[in-house]
Amino acid sequence: MKPRSKILIIAGSDSSGGAGIQADIKTVTSLGSYAMTALTAITAQNSTGVLSVVSINPKEIEKQILFTSKDMKPDAVKIGMLHSSKVINSIIKTLKKIKVKKIILDPVMVAKGGAKLINNSAVRVLKKNLIKKVFLITPNIPEAEVLTDMSIKNTKDMKKAANILLKLGVKNVLIKGGHSKSKYVEDVFLNKNDFVIFKNKKIKTKNTHGTGCTLSSAITTFLSCGKPIKKSCELGIKYVNQAIKNNLNYGKGHGPINHLNTIKIDKIYI
Ligand SMILES: Nc1ncnc2c1ncn2[C@@H]1O[C@H](COP(=O)(O)OP(=O)(O)OP(=O)(O)O)[C@@H](O)[C@H]1O
Ligand SMILES: [Mg+2]
Repeated sequence: MKPRSKILIIAGSDSSGGAGIQADIKTVTSLGSYAMTALTAITAQNSTGVLSVVSINPKEIEKQILFTSKDMKPDAVKIGMLHSSKVINSIIKTLKKIKVKKIILDPVMVAKGGAKLINNSAVRVLKKNLIKKVFLITPNIPEAEVLTDMSIKNTKDMKKAANILLKLGVKNVLIKGGHSKSKYVEDVFLNKNDFVIFKNKKIKTKNTHGTGCTLSSAITTFLSCGKPIKKSCELGIKYVNQAIKNNLNYGKGHGPINHLNTIKIDKIYI
């Protein structure tokens, strides 16, 4: 089978293969597209936690993006964790040069345990300069709280936060509800014309490592193949849901989900 599109992923490496660039490549590939990468950091981690992080120099990130894209133009770009304002500024400059319109940002900034992963100046640059270049942003609830300076308790608050993010210049917002305590997970989608709540039963499992990375990569893949943004979110959520249901019981901590458990992609693209 020939890949349906080409995607450039800008993200960090997760040595355990459940999240980060490894999860992104697995998702893009199993949904039928071609994955290219620009590595922003290298982590030593497993299902129980992160042992160390080494950041890649912004110049090297820039080179990976430009040299790769000059030769094979991506149809869409997915951005994962960007650790500093220097990296964010350099990504903004670089994206301007490659002229891709479909840019999806997963603003990774709060770890599963609640620790803030990026500093305040990086958050400021992301809010002020990067967000307006982006087609879709996919924060989880704690990240949406940091970006909007409000506390989020329910879907009404999620919609309010999504509205604040639209005002910052992003075209589409999907606030992910995986962190809520209720029996359901509710992901809230908002743009100028549309508001949808995607509601699913919460699956009882500790194996949810990489759900966020996987979701944004799945959405990017569907979007890159020409699906409308709302449909791309719906299909991406479905893919992650099935991958969690069929999760792998690997490791002693939060194990990975099953990227190979693809939805019938040929049926989707008819
Ligand atoms: N237990 C669960 N059952 C069903 N769906 C879930 C569950 N946990 C997360 N999801 C779904 O997975 C997707 C990712 O959401 P989540 O809030 O976990 O992102 P995240 O916090 O960015 O993940 P990560 O910790 O990987 O960064 C959403 O569509 C969410 O609804
Ligand atoms: Mg996340």
